[in-house]
Amino acid sequence: MKISNRLKLIASFVDDDSKVIDVGCDHALLDIFLVLNKKNIKAIASDINPHSLQMARRNIDKYGVAKSIVLSLGDGLEKMPDDIDTIVMSGMGGNTIIDILENSKDMLLSIKTIVVSPHNSLYDVRRYVNKIGYYIDDEEMIYDQGKYYTVIKFQRGQKNYSDEQLFFGPILLMKRNSIFCRYCSELLQKDEILLKTIPQSSSERDRLQKEIEKLRTI
Ligand SMILES: C[S@@+](CC[C@H](N)C(=O)[O-])C[C@H]1O[C@@H](n2cnc3c(N)ncnc32)[C@H](O)[C@@H]1O
Repeated sequence: MKISNRLKLIASFVDDDSKVIDVGCDHALLDIFLVLNKKNIKAIASDINPHSLQMARRNIDKYGVAKSIVLSLGDGLEKMPDDIDTIVMSGMGGNTIIDILENSKDMLLSIKTIVVSPHNSLYDVRRYVNKIGYYIDDEEMIYDQGKYYTVIKFQRGQKNYSDEQLFFGPILLMKRNSIFCRYCSELLQKDEILLKTIPQSSSERDRLQKEIEKLRTI
């Protein structure tokens, strides 16, 4: 099947033999790809939007994988069964991801892996998921269809991170691949232009200046 490089990257962070809930599955293409390309995957494809689930149903039937994927209509993790060990959330804002986890904090005991690809607020997502008892096992940034995407794999366990590691991503910092470096240099250029337009009195200046200092170290 044909899916985007972004979804393929997310799938590469899901282990064989996982019981996955894909929150905000939309078309369920990720879940179908997982079932077809990984060993022994059981998936709950879940979404808050019934129209998404209709589309997901059509795709699941088209690829003949209905035995391995259960559809679930619901908000966040509210209907997550007990035996799930892996949560995937992609294509949402970072704050939505944090809210979904925060609203179901008590249900995370059985969760060993959380794979996320937020649109934004990566610092906040890394800090929050680390705070609730997960460390960053892997990270990758790709450029797909004109946009940068970061995918982060958290595993249960504790590690402490510096502010800089939470901002850039500890593994991305270590790997420093060409896409990551290009992203940082483009962000630096944008920030420097923006800084010139912000009044001296604005509190946003301080945040931007700190970001620029960090970006200059890359
Ligand atoms: C942009 S789509 C991303 C689809 C897919 N995960 C991907 O990465 O291509 C976001 C999906 O998240 C769903 N969504 C947003 N908030 C949600 C929530 N609180 N619980 C479940 N699904 C949610 C939306 O209905 C939408 O289908």
